[in-house]
Amino acid sequence: MNLIFLGPPGGGKGTQARIAQDQYGLVQIATGDMLRDAVKQGTELGKKAKEYMDAGQLVPDDLIVNMIRERIEAPDCANGFILDGFPRTVEQAKALDRMLDDTGRKLNAVIEIRVPDDELVRRITGRFTCANCGEGYHDEFKKPQKDGVCDKCGGTEFSRREDDNEETVRSRLTAYHEQTAPIIPYYESTGLLRVVDGTKPIEEVTGDLTKILEEVSG
Ligand code: AP5
Repeated sequence: MNLIFLGPPGGGKGTQARIAQDQYGLVQIATGDMLRDAVKQGTELGKKAKEYMDAGQLVPDDLIVNMIRERIEAPDCANGFILDGFPRTVEQAKALDRMLDDTGRKLNAVIEIRVPDDELVRRITGRFTCANCGEGYHDEFKKPQKDGVCDKCGGTEFSRREDDNEETVRSRLTAYHEQTAPIIPYYESTGLLRVVDGTKPIEEVTGDLTKILEEVSG
């Protein structure tokens, strides 16, 4: 099963993709995580991407498309993948179509997780992740069961993203509405688009998503 999780910054793409990958044995391909790794490692890609990411702008399409092409051709993606954060422009969506055609693969669904803007700032500014396994948490909506200890791996170090401040979030939301939202009608016209209400609690969003995935995997 090959899926796209689409939605605004803080909409819950990463949270739901991590759950679905475990449930269905898929690989989560999160372009934001891949770029942050490249920045950390100081690669050429990381050096080019950093200034865009710090400003809350999209990284140029050609850099992203090359990165994704290599990733979806890797052997671990043979059973299927969840694209989390890609495509983010119509150009990227068209490039993905060409890549899938070239490798004889198809998308099963594009899931839009819909959340209004005012909710997103609160979500993003309260977010933190386990520094060891990457599990995501929130100060208010998803605290670790034991304070200061990761539920998943027992790690005790946590980190917050540099771009998770209110000013950068506003720029990321502008980029989403101007550059990413136009891909919604693109996928609607192919019949692949499904929408879930991302304002519900995490478990309820997972339930709604599971129903869709059961339908499209059959
Ligand atoms: P990226 O890392 O992809 O960030 P993003 O799209 O801004 O998305 P987020 O990771 O912030 O949100 P999410 O939807 O995953 O939310 P999460 O599940 O964590 O991209 C970062 C940057 O990289 C971009 O700005 C750009 O510069 C660059 N980039 C990446 N891909 C690119 C591309 N394809 N082209 C060009 N540039 C690219 O949830 C957020 C918080 O809310 C968490 O704390 C979570 O616990 C909580 N939460 C989740 N669901 C719920 C719920 N239902 N109720 C309450 N709380 C919830």
